[in-house]
Amino acid sequence: MALREYLAQALPDQEQFEILHLQNPSKESHPVITPQSSNKSGLITVKNQHFFALFHKEKAIYALEIYVYITLTPEVQDTIAERIVFVSKADTNGYCDCEVSFKKITQQLLRYVLSINPNYYLQKVIPRHREYHKFDKHLITKKTKPTDALRLLAKRQGDVSLMSSINLNVGIYHSFQCQPNIITKICLFTKPSPQYLFAESSKNPKKHQLDGASLLKWWLDILDELIVECFDQNTTANLRIPGEDETVVNRYLRGLKHNGWEAGDLFTKKSNEKHDLAAFRIPLFPDDPKSRFLHQLADEGRILSMYLKAYWAELQERQEFRLSVTVSVIGIQGHQAEEPIYVPNNKHDVFLTSSKKQFNSIKNYITGEAYDTIEGAFEAYLNVKYFLGDRFGRRLIKVEGVAKYRWIKKESIEKRRQDIINTLSVRKKPKK
Ligand code: ACO
Repeated sequence: MALREYLAQALPDQEQFEILHLQNPSKESHPVITPQSSNKSGLITVKNQHFFALFHKEKAIYALEIYVYITLTPEVQDTIAERIVFVSKADTNGYCDCEVSFKKITQQLLRYVLSINPNYYLQKVIPRHREYHKFDKHLITKKTKPTDALRLLAKRQGDVSLMSSINLNVGIYHSFQCQPNIITKICLFTKPSPQYLFAESSKNPKKHQLDGASLLKWWLDILDELIVECFDQNTTANLRIPGEDETVVNRYLRGLKHNGWEAGDLFTKKSNEKHDLAAFRIPLFPDDPKSRFLHQLADEGRILSMYLKAYWAELQERQEFRLSVTVSVIGIQGHQAEEPIYVPNNKHDVFLTSSKKQFNSIKNYITGEAYDTIEGAFEAYLNVKYFLGDRFGRRLIKVEGVAKYRWIKKESIEKRRQDIINTLSVRKKPKK
């Protein structure tokens, strides 16, 4: 199902929206979890990034950033693979002037990302180190000497067919293959902040900001429903609240629909938490408090003496958590109930950028604005729209909502009002 269809189900009936979906070229990256021994050196990690920005009435209103990692372990017989979906940041700015549920929008965008065939990310992967000696000798690269480059250019002018005969398949990109229904992990760190992707938006009094505990419940609702609907029953789901014991954690898990929720996290085995070094168990994600703490431990020379139990205890002591807000680490691991087979369409679903630089410069039209006034939301929309149109002949994806929840809410308010009137009139009766 296309992105537009997923999103329409979360947006209010008959309201018009537009969405920007940016995606980075896939790139080989360092392993998400640092391997302890060199015998894991065969591990291949492919990293990709999605950025979604939603617009309503020519204003940016919401954004979500997600990283996807595919880890391949080429074995003799088969390739073992897993996918990690790291939900990095969700943010709003308060300038949406119709009633929407950002919870449903976030859930639908995650559903869409989960529906993507992992092989989609593996077809054209920029290698970590390019082997320039393997490239077609007619290609000009940054390793080509200026004199040779000039000679090649002259040759191309003399023979126009030369360019089309160049073999671009050797060495420039890697390509891998895995089974579509690999293990999927969803990881996130919930930490409320006045703003993440819309600078200065906290100055808009209409922005609705969830506090730490409400944000945690918000994410649990989103993920719990996703597990029930998209994952098989054996899926594990963990919640850790640094600094809180299991009783407090279990209170948050009460009432969730999936029965595989447990206190803890995906990376710590209880039996080994005193013996396993955090450095070889905790994943390194971009702009993530857990990773920042690992980097700090490395700078302080304590990385090889920090065991998991102490790591979690000390994490909560860090400066960024001292404001006593509830933060949490949520992890899900399992197979999806249905094989993810969707391959996004570069015209209708996604704007696939040619480089990380291009990705960041387009994203910057959204994140580089100031949202203390509504002008920022208008500017972001216009800049993205004209940049995509003028430079690439591309448009934002139009989506018309089909969800009736707005009316359901109104109906339920009306029903409650009617119930109160009925109750009052029933009470009045004996007085008569
Ligand atoms: N006044 C009162 N209640 C409101 C208002 C409002 N203006 N707006 C929404 N609500 C209620 C909704 O009715 C809903 O209630 P319900 O759960 O009883 O149905 C609840 O608040 C949640 O509403 P949503 O539309 O789902 O979400 P919201 O508008 O609160 O946005 C978000 C959630 C994006 C987290 C927002 O709080 C925000 O931008 N926070 C700042 C950035 C942030 O902390 N991001 C999360 C980082 S963690 C991570 O991304 C992994």
